[in-house]
Amino acid sequence: MATIQDRVPVSQIKRIAVLTGGGDCPGLNAVIRAVVKDAINCGIEVYGIEDGFLGLIEDRIRLLSLDDVSNILTMGGTILGSNNKSNPQKYPVGKNEDGTPKFKDLTEVCVTHLEIRKIEALVVIGGDGTMSAAKPIADLGINCIGVPKTIDNDLYGTDITFGFQTAVSVATEALDRVHPTAASHHRVMVVELMGRNAGWLTLHAGLASGSDVILIPEIEFDLEKVCEYCLWRSQRGKRFTIIAVAEGAKMSDGKQIVERTDPTSPDPIRLGGIARWLSEQIEEKTEIESRYVVLGHTQRGGTPVAGDRVLATQFGHHAMQLLKMGKTNRLVVMQGGHLGDVEIASAADKQRLVPKNHPLVATAKSVYTCFGD
Ligand code: F6P
Repeated sequence: MATIQDRVPVSQIKRIAVLTGGGDCPGLNAVIRAVVKDAINCGIEVYGIEDGFLGLIEDRIRLLSLDDVSNILTMGGTILGSNNKSNPQKYPVGKNEDGTPKFKDLTEVCVTHLEIRKIEALVVIGGDGTMSAAKPIADLGINCIGVPKTIDNDLYGTDITFGFQTAVSVATEALDRVHPTAASHHRVMVVELMGRNAGWLTLHAGLASGSDVILIPEIEFDLEKVCEYCLWRSQRGKRFTIIAVAEGAKMSDGKQIVERTDPTSPDPIRLGGIARWLSEQIEEKTEIESRYVVLGHTQRGGTPVAGDRVLATQFGHHAMQLLKMGKTNRLVVMQGGHLGDVEIASAADKQRLVPKNHPLVATAKSVYTCFGD
């Protein structure tokens, strides 16, 4: 394997690869398109790696052309495929004698697959897990440039990730849609949103839809207070209460509802089920009829909104600028409305959560929104 010193200076890069890692989100294709078009425009060859790091481990890598990225700006998903279970450093390879999953470090295999094709740099489009998976590859001398995606908007170092604005728009529309049906039936309607341990998506969609209750992981909620609030609204003659609850919302004792665990995944906990639990509890304690809706992966699908298309294209262009300037191992970020970049490792395995005193929380509280605290 070549050492870092053996490699050509990154500013003279002739061949790069791109992959999309982790859960998909709207705007991935817009980044791929921006990277491929910009690169080809500058005489740089671009290889696409299929299914995230899994394709790199399995050597599923193909040359991309302008035709491959034609007409994909508005497409949801990713033309390359993605995978949220394959960190090369901790790749599951069966079970140990005690039944626990067995892992192998395949970082060198990944680097070899890149070296065979003389690929000098890798654009990794992903969230915190993808950035952490890129670090050991960068440590072995492949220049890794990160582009931040996730509907959760929880990547450390950037104010915004692409995919988030689309998810907010989808969730807001869903919350708007349950409003009249809840009012027609004098019901409490509990809507569960994604976001893992971050409440950004629920906070923004909750505020945009005028949800009466917003429950996010960062502000633990007291069930009694939520029930009292529903009763208070009903006694005031309000015909409905809309509750936007994040899948990771925590109760006063810090408990979350876990749908299942996947021990082979680097992020084994799959949250889910809080809307059903909450709706049953509210109906039992208040005697107000309640229903629940889980938005799930609808929040990750569909065409990206205009803001995400623009952001994704800007991010892809900035990633190429970094490569052309010879910068190494950077993560493209947006801070205070300005495009910039930070050390890629600084975003690995960290999450940007909603501060309890965030201005949007105060804004929501000023219009009588209940956070259950
Ligand atoms: O990180 C994005 C996300 O959609 C989270 O909001 C959610 O908890 C998780 O991925 C779901 O993962 P999966 O696609 O594996 O069900």
